[in-house]
Amino acid sequence: MMETDKNAPVGVFDSGVGGLTVVREIMRQIPEERIVYFGDTARVPYGSKSADTVIRYSRQIIRFLQTKKVKAIVIACNTASACALDVVAEETDIPVIGVINAGARTAVGATRNGRIGVIGTEATIGSGIYTRVMQRLRPDIQVAGKPCPLFVPLVEEGLLHDSVTDEIASRYLSSLKEKYIDTLVLGCTHYPLLRSTLRRLMGEDVVLVNPAYETAIELKGLLQERGLGRDPEAPLEGEQYQFYVSDLAEKFTSFATSILPGAVKETRKIDIENY
Ligand code: DGL
Repeated sequence: MMETDKNAPVGVFDSGVGGLTVVREIMRQIPEERIVYFGDTARVPYGSKSADTVIRYSRQIIRFLQTKKVKAIVIACNTASACALDVVAEETDIPVIGVINAGARTAVGATRNGRIGVIGTEATIGSGIYTRVMQRLRPDIQVAGKPCPLFVPLVEEGLLHDSVTDEIASRYLSSLKEKYIDTLVLGCTHYPLLRSTLRRLMGEDVVLVNPAYETAIELKGLLQERGLGRDPEAPLEGEQYQFYVSDLAEKFTSFATSILPGAVKETRKIDIENY
């Protein structure tokens, strides 16, 4: 097997724009790294699709990212991490990590009363994966999951601070509040963008866990451990950050600019079905 180039980029992918919240954390934690991002804007949402479909999509995206010679891959999508990580990590010869283990670990470390809420897409909550991972870490943990399918379109419509979002969020969260959770995992890439609404509705005492933050730390540790951290002095060959999508490149660029001001100069559209 060929030795991996430590100055190669990290591949990051999501069903669309949401994974940029993970990119933002990677940029903060390991600013020297190069990133190739793929957002599957033609086939979003993944949250309402079957695991088989999400696995097929993830395999295609990994094949595409490998044409960019990435040294590691981050599945920055909770749904794809839930449905596809185990399968694709096994069949890929570079490290592949998702966002769920990091989020679950942080939540278990944060809870004081052992009651944790998880919000995410139908597919993520339906998979039960957060519960399994958290109970493996601490068997007495009680986990309450709640799918919040309307949050993704609300975020994508830019309704981050809006009475409609408040109303929907308060309905979604009421069942979790009744369970006296003290920690809430934001188990979908878009939800950190609703943080202030969630914070207001859940109250100051509930810890909000953003798995993106811990995932970036996990990536940093993994690269260091394997001697794959980029040499900050190495000359940059090409752009430090590259963005690819499967549809509507301009729409992606304008949304991305609201999450990562200044970082997204150009977005290229590719035909992911060719991979
Ligand atoms: N990125 C997805 C996730 O984190 C949310 C959007 C979708 O349903 O594809 O689960």
